[in-house]
Amino acid sequence: MRVLVSGGAGFLGSHLVDQLISRGDEVVVFDDLSRGHREQVPNGVILVEGDVRDSSKWTEICAQFSPELIHHLAAVNGTRRFHREADIVADVNVNGTRNAIEAAKATGARLVFYSSPESFGEQSVMPLANDSNSVFTPAHEHQRHSYGASKYLGELLIHHAIRDFGLDARILRPFNAYGPRLHGDADGQVVSMMLLANPIEVHGDGLQTRSMTWVGDVVEGMLRVGDLPDLCGMSFNLASEEEVSMLNLASMISEITGAKIVHTGENHGDSRRRVADLSGNDKIGWKASTSLVEGLAQLR
Ligand SMILES: NC(=O)c1ccc[n+]([C@@H]2O[C@H](COP(=O)([O-])OP(=O)(O)OC[C@H]3O[C@@H](n4cnc5c(N)ncnc54)[C@H](O)[C@@H]3O)[C@@H](O)[C@H]2O)c1
Repeated sequence: MRVLVSGGAGFLGSHLVDQLISRGDEVVVFDDLSRGHREQVPNGVILVEGDVRDSSKWTEICAQFSPELIHHLAAVNGTRRFHREADIVADVNVNGTRNAIEAAKATGARLVFYSSPESFGEQSVMPLANDSNSVFTPAHEHQRHSYGASKYLGELLIHHAIRDFGLDARILRPFNAYGPRLHGDADGQVVSMMLLANPIEVHGDGLQTRSMTWVGDVVEGMLRVGDLPDLCGMSFNLASEEEVSMLNLASMISEITGAKIVHTGENHGDSRRRVADLSGNDKIGWKASTSLVEGLAQLR
């Protein structure tokens, strides 16, 4: 199959590309390398360097490659950036998705859109299900939800394109994927940041929980959602069933690295719990199988 992966030089995208290549697909990666790395794109894969906001770049790639499947992962990520660069987050994530939809419409390709549990904002009723409402705090308080709202708008645009243009599109929400190549810098994600930190900073009381999901499991779900027929218009939460508090996560990582744990101020807009409804995953036969202890052991 011919597969176009936007954001394919990044964390999830590059793991996906590895799997696509190993089963013999033809793959083109579209990435501006703002967070991704050229070295993460395997030999034999064409890397088109460019910005997903640039519609002419999509047209060029589609004219040359005619993708049958598009995995649209390119997006601005990283909690600090949601606050500081809300305008860029909204621009890349919304306009990049609009262009991905136009590309899928023009080529007839199937589209997988990468949303996030943050598309539900601060919804406190758990588990988060496809029919949960999104809850966003007033915009003047903080701009953290530039990201979650951009993902909500992405989902909305996908459903609009399905309804009005018959697009075959699917939505995925990975829940805190972790594994090799995860960014550990100041704009990174929690497991990698904690693995590199000394002391390990825990925000607030640390009792906020997440479902940390091993990248190998997440990529298996990504492949299935891209490959299986008859999933048009469906959304899937790719989450581990294990709920862990940030304090427990810090303790597990501190046992590995020997780092001390300190408490810092709370992050605006941080959900207290984030647990997924997984009942829809029977359709793709997917369940995370790697425990947090097993996953962390592979990152030592
Ligand atoms: N990792 C997770 O746990 C998680 C959770 C929920 C949602 N997601 C979503 O999955 C997708 C991939 O996430 P990730 O963790 O691999 O992030 P990542 O930052 O590693 O990957 C994103 C990639 O997009 C590229 N990119 C950013 N802006 C671009 C632009 N304007 N034009 C072209 N390329 C651009 C980056 O260079 C990077 O390679 C994102 O859409 C993210 O929102 C990830």
